[in-house]
Amino acid sequence: MKRKEALYAILVEHAGTYCSGEVLAQQLGISRAAVWKAVQTLRTESNVPIQSHAKLGYCIPKDADLLLENAVRQRLQTKQLGNVLYHHTTVSSTNTVCKQLAAEGAAHGTVVMADGQSAGRGRMGRTFYSPVNTGLYFSVLLREHLVMPMAQQVTCCAAVAVAEAIEALYQLPAQIKWVNDVLYQKKKLCGILTEAAWNCEDGQMDYMVVGIGVNVRQTAVTMPSELHGIVSSLEESGCKQVNRSELLAEILNRFEVQIETLPQHGFLEAYRNRSCLTGERVIAWRGMEQLEGVVSGIAEDGALLLQLDSGEQVVLQSGEVTLHPQAASRR
Ligand code: BTN
Repeated sequence: MKRKEALYAILVEHAGTYCSGEVLAQQLGISRAAVWKAVQTLRTESNVPIQSHAKLGYCIPKDADLLLENAVRQRLQTKQLGNVLYHHTTVSSTNTVCKQLAAEGAAHGTVVMADGQSAGRGRMGRTFYSPVNTGLYFSVLLREHLVMPMAQQVTCCAAVAVAEAIEALYQLPAQIKWVNDVLYQKKKLCGILTEAAWNCEDGQMDYMVVGIGVNVRQTAVTMPSELHGIVSSLEESGCKQVNRSELLAEILNRFEVQIETLPQHGFLEAYRNRSCLTGERVIAWRGMEQLEGVVSGIAEDGALLLQLDSGEQVVLQSGEVTLHPQAASRR
């Protein structure tokens, strides 16, 4: 374990009480100056809220928002999701790590969570901005309930689980933008990247990795300028005292129920009720083809129903949709 990680583990274990620099130095086998340096690194690189007191030493406040395996486990009510849980301070991408674990035979329900991602990935080859300790980044490995064509609807289940968790914990009426964005007041709070691997021999799906990134405390000041006006965070939307461990457990609890009821389209009513595109004029891309029309609803299998100006009804199974500039400017 690296020095800063060992220090973090001790401070987490004693959260709410001060640990003197001398005792920490002894436990870690380093000098007090090195302890101070590691504290600074944790503060600046990992956003860990460490308080210091000249006489008492260092302390992580009891109510600090820490992503901790035990805190997640305490709140889990799942049968399988999260039974195996990996926590990293920083990884390239939790989806990438989770896919590696899947290739090595990891079990259905394995979860990889991280405080930050150095190469967070979004849909369509985009990057997902994932600064340390300001968001919740995790991936779930699914091996069961993957009968095609239902597999595509797993993303819808995840979106419903996230939106419902946010509403239950913070009373924020989150909406869903087809297919996989969770929004509040038209700004993105969460993105979902679902990836799958097929077995070439029998053509069956081998596994799916569902990666979920929730913006927790980014603000317009801390976000890259290209995200301004498009992306928001829970705290910027008024949610107080977000605890990422609690939020993760709440999402997993709900996600498992959604997946289990997927064959009966259990997600559908909640998904339709939260769909922010229904009735809106949009621009959609089907491959390279650009379409314009009004969204008439969500089909049973989660596809987007689009009424083109010609009167033709288009069923979009996948693709990208944005609000038409005229529809957006009405807001
Ligand atoms: C999107 O909005 O385009 C999807 C974003 C998905 C981000 C999550 S964060 C956890 C997981 N790891 C990744 O690299 N991506 C997903």
